[in-house]
Amino acid sequence: MRHPLVMGNWKLNGNKQMVNELIAGLRTELSGVDGCGVAIAPPVMYLDQAKHAISGSHIVLGTQNVDVNLFGAFTGEVSADMLKDLGAEYIIIGHSERRIYHAESDELIAKKFAVLKAAGLTPVLCIGETEAENEAGKTEEVCARQINAVLNSQGADAFNGVVVAYEPVWAIGTGKSATPAQAQAVHNFIRNHIAKKDAAVAAQVIIQYGGSVNDKNAAELFAQPDIDGALVGGASLKADAFAVIVKAAAAAKKPDDLS
Ligand code: 13P
Repeated sequence: MRHPLVMGNWKLNGNKQMVNELIAGLRTELSGVDGCGVAIAPPVMYLDQAKHAISGSHIVLGTQNVDVNLFGAFTGEVSADMLKDLGAEYIIIGHSERRIYHAESDELIAKKFAVLKAAGLTPVLCIGETEAENEAGKTEEVCARQINAVLNSQGADAFNGVVVAYEPVWAIGTGKSATPAQAQAVHNFIRNHIAKKDAAVAAQVIIQYGGSVNDKNAAELFAQPDIDGALVGGASLKADAFAVIVKAAAAAKKPDDLS
């Protein structure tokens, strides 16, 4: 059965003091809250510190990228096994900031997806259209292409136990979230697209929404039947705002939450 997952993507933010303070704040704000998975994705530099700081809580560790290579002469890279060694479980791949600033292709991202699965880690596969693509009516085409890079090379089974994050690029960091109806329409399209290959796999895929999610708009987004939590940027850097988002996801009851 699907359960919502709210994950904080800290991006390139933080220092040792902030990691301890933010996690201490989250532990206080989130104590006793259940019914929603919670994960944080700090910069890789702080994973070990964060792992210790979340110990004994139900916060799960993630991070923001992985290399396709497993070991060897690849200066500056971090492997799936290293992330696993440090206790990370949910690994963001395909974020639009990496597609744009690091020219990551659908094929490279599909390789990262396979490397994570092989290591027993959970990919959080980010997809989403740019503003120009949205205005040109290409949202579904772009999302299908980004999903197909994995679906066509690794099959529908590869989506068992993974997370997809629909993050329209025009909504990221702009304060301009997709409306609940807009987001629901795309989430439903993504789920149906996977269902064409395997309905059971599609039914269990967690599809998060990301893009200017905050403590004010989270509840109405999570009320949509195909929105299973959120990938949160800016608001994940404030314990109180992030906790409101987690609580909104935990409180959202979906028609197909049958468990
Ligand atoms: P914001 O929540 O800051 O818009 O960022 C969303 C995002 O990119 C999460 O991965």
